Amino acid sequence: PIIMTQSSFTHRDNLKYPYEERGLQFGDGIYEVIRIYNGEYYLLKEHVDRLFRSAAAVKINLAATKEEMTQLLLQLLERNKMNKDGKVYLQVTRGSAPRDHVFPEGIPENVYAYIQDLPRNTEKMDAGVATITQRDVRWENCYIKSLNLLPNVLAKQEAKENGCYEAILHKNGLVTECSSSNVYLVKDGKIYTHPATNNILHGCVRMRVEKFANDLGIPFIEESFTVEDIATADEILLSSSTSEVMPIISVDDKQIADGKPGKITKQLQQAYIADAN
Ligand code: PDD
Repeated sequence: PIIMTQSSFTHRDNLKYPYEERGLQFGDGIYEVIRIYNGEYYLLKEHVDRLFRSAAAVKINLAATKEEMTQLLLQLLERNKMNKDGKVYLQVTRGSAPRDHVFPEGIPENVYAYIQDLPRNTEKMDAGVATITQRDVRWENCYIKSLNLLPNVLAKQEAKENGCYEAILHKNGLVTECSSSNVYLVKDGKIYTHPATNNILHGCVRMRVEKFANDLGIPFIEESFTVEDIATADEILLSSSTSEVMPIISVDDKQIADGKPGKITKQLQQAYIADAN
């Protein structure tokens, strides 16, 4: 069959991508981003566990077991002779089939993963980053790491167009998370963050931040804070596999405290580095 592309018509076989692919047509799939330090995965088990939770939530039956997926990911590092800092992107979609909202039957899921170099963003982690707030217009199952990232993409782009690194999302005034990271507020020596409900992704680094806080004797309170609370915060920070523990020094052009990374944020950064090495 002849296919129309943005500039011409071509035979289907000339297309470089599988056009009837459910990830492309419906965002019908899930993914993980796993950090690599010195050629080794950080929090691999946590990410594989979450991948399987996401798969179960969207009824994708993975052919591989957790153990097999783990082995495949380890082999990927070996075969690439990966010995640097980087990340892996792993994606699973419901597969390729004629377009129909209803699940296709009897076809395998599409799985791929690739690694990329990713040096640690130490400059930003030392200096801190600027952010904006945005309404969280996503759906009610944000705990699933799904490919449906359009609201996240639009929020992050809005941040960039405002000279910012991230967008802090809020639902009815309550801060949920950022477009691709979790977010925390520090007030009077305590860390506050949205509880791990359906409204946020349960970040693998977030789990570690909770542990670091416990180890350091800093109360970690899973209570959402509001956009208004930000004005009087002592510190704000975010976390993700790619951003690690990142200080936020301004929100909507307003400086947080003295505009420098805070004490507790720095303690969490040190705990992170010790943990990741
Ligand atoms: N994003 N919240 C959202 C919406 C995310 O997309 C991410 C990760 C996180 C942090 O999760 P973790 O600590 O497990 O990395 C929170 C990845 C990095 C991405 O989409 O590129």
